[in-house]
Amino acid sequence: MSNAIPAPRVLSGIQPTADSFHLGNYLGAVRQWVAMQDDHDAFYCIVDLHGITVDFEPAVLRDRTRRAAAQLLAAGIDPERSTLFVQSHVAEHAQLGWVLGCITGFGEASRMTQFKDKTVKGGAERATVGLFTYPVLMAGDIMLYQADRVPVGGDQRQHLELTRDLAGRFNSRFGTTFRVPEPYIVKETAKILDLQTPEKQMSKSLAGPGCLFLLDKPSVNAKKIRSAVTDSGHDVRFDEANKPGISNLLTIYAALTSTSVADLEQKYEGRGYGDLKKDLADVVVDFVTPFRQHTLALLNDPAELDRVLAEGASHARDVAGPTLAAVYDRVGFIPAR
Ligand code: TRP
Repeated sequence: MSNAIPAPRVLSGIQPTADSFHLGNYLGAVRQWVAMQDDHDAFYCIVDLHGITVDFEPAVLRDRTRRAAAQLLAAGIDPERSTLFVQSHVAEHAQLGWVLGCITGFGEASRMTQFKDKTVKGGAERATVGLFTYPVLMAGDIMLYQADRVPVGGDQRQHLELTRDLAGRFNSRFGTTFRVPEPYIVKETAKILDLQTPEKQMSKSLAGPGCLFLLDKPSVNAKKIRSAVTDSGHDVRFDEANKPGISNLLTIYAALTSTSVADLEQKYEGRGYGDLKKDLADVVVDFVTPFRQHTLALLNDPAELDRVLAEGASHARDVAGPTLAAVYDRVGFIPAR
């Protein structure tokens, strides 16, 4: 197969900032990561350097990094087919981040809306410089691997635009070094909404009853589905504007069972919300039960988990190293020896 066209490269990252993934992480991102392994050269990164841009606790970070790895493996990321690694294990991320920071305009970075969103509470004065330069580090994550495609949620679109700008800028100033990546935003399942506040995206910051954490006891998640907010009508119909709660449940149901929303509407025609919720609760339990068991089993053997991550890091370095070497040379750093 030496003359085969190489598979396009995909890179994505997830922050180790929660004890458990929630359903929105899974359906909006992780599931696509798993699927893309089939026809991509995949690099998946647990971005612990990004994880320290906001308040953090070292012991908690350590635990959450392993939890993220275990959940990715349990979800179906296969280390034989994908490179699964931890960002801090590959020094090139921080190194390229610095260089890119030096070709990013201060004003350009100031326009990143996620920074503004994340600092509304405390104000920019209290935010860290790390949080400010976060998108630059993310650009480096992508560029180091010459990724063609980057599956992310809609909230990361602006960061991808910055990545494309920086890759293009570096190339024109210093000679072609980087591939300019394409975003890959999955439409149907990208937006899973909070079960209690279906106007907002499911997020751990809304914590509590509207967010379905995959590692919670299955019975807890079944209950969250059964108590999801719905409107006062009774027909099970997909209508985001007037029935955001029901539409969200249909989206989740369709995604977890690989059926279409239209089929579900037909199935529940003439039946009430109660039936839908009861069935979806069962679907969710069937999904989370084995996922949780598998994750907990992997967490029981941290040495083996660390071994898998070390292998991933070693392969990631094989790719990131030459990219960084080219960058250092092009910007005029003399060789270390
Ligand atoms: N910023 C991303 C998020 O919060 C995480 C991330 C960091 C990432 N580096 C990345 C995503 C590189 C894709 C590619 O979701």
